Amino acid sequence: MKRDFICIKDWSVEEIEDILSLSEELKRNPQKFAQVLAGKTIALLFEKPSLRTHVSFMVGMYQLGGNAFYLGPEQVKLGVREPIKDIARTLSRYVEGIVLRTFSQENVLEMARYATVPVINGLSDLLHPCQALADIFTIKEKKGKLKGVNLGFIGDGNNVLHSLLYACAKLGINLFIATPKKYQPRREIFEEAKEFAQETKSEISLVKSPLEVAKTAEFLYTDVWVSMGQEREREKRLRDFKGFQINEELIEKAKNNPYILHCLPCHRGEEITEAVIESKYSLVFEQAENRLHVQKAILIRLLS
Ligand code: CP
Ligand code: NVA
Repeated sequence: MKRDFICIKDWSVEEIEDILSLSEELKRNPQKFAQVLAGKTIALLFEKPSLRTHVSFMVGMYQLGGNAFYLGPEQVKLGVREPIKDIARTLSRYVEGIVLRTFSQENVLEMARYATVPVINGLSDLLHPCQALADIFTIKEKKGKLKGVNLGFIGDGNNVLHSLLYACAKLGINLFIATPKKYQPRREIFEEAKEFAQETKSEISLVKSPLEVAKTAEFLYTDVWVSMGQEREREKRLRDFKGFQINEELIEKAKNNPYILHCLPCHRGEEITEAVIESKYSLVFEQAENRLHVQKAILIRLLS
């Protein structure tokens, strides 16, 4: 049976821990894995722009001895030239895996349903699971553990937060979230995460203000206020998110000198200031690097 990587909730705690420890080994000793996917090819189908996801999957595949090719927004218009189910079955005859970046989560599910090779979610409007695994890998690198670590998220209850919710709940990280009321994470995802959290005893909660989040956080995470595809809502969003910026004033009030996390790209002067993103506590490029190691681990587990 082929396996997909679409949503962190579908992967067991043991499987996630296995990915994290394989990522550690890949980072320490990449040479050991230089040929493990020799002769294999993956297709990257991206309907939205990308730097990190695009390059880290391409390079990751090369570093494992395999091949990758990229079809960007110019070429990929799912369902326009032909339906997703036909793309899925055609590609499955050529490649050993598909990474899809698209708008609707339904597209990812349909691709996975019809592809006979593993499908990896390289970001949808709903989820960004590869990002969340790289993020918790980064937290583990810094703290040497995950259970009981306090992560704070300030900003938009979007794809990045949704995947973090599952990841934190499954691995015992406490997650305190402050968003404007209209931008809370999806209720059903929040509730599902709370259920996973009961087993690991992690605390997942929506709190009243960014200050409340900052006070307990050991890591402070934010993401853009205007995600890809939301450009038309820009003016409204900038107004709605006022007061949810991670800036020097907020950091001064934080008790634990929190590390700063951001999936990138960031919008300086919107969700975060230049001084904070460039500060010595910022781990954003470690996160970006770790996308490579973690995705190589995912590829090995799915394609080997
Ligand atoms: N964080 C992230 O997914 O970056 P890209 O959009 O550049 O891939
Ligand atoms: N929330 C952002 C994440 C980018 C990596 C977006 O969807 O554009």
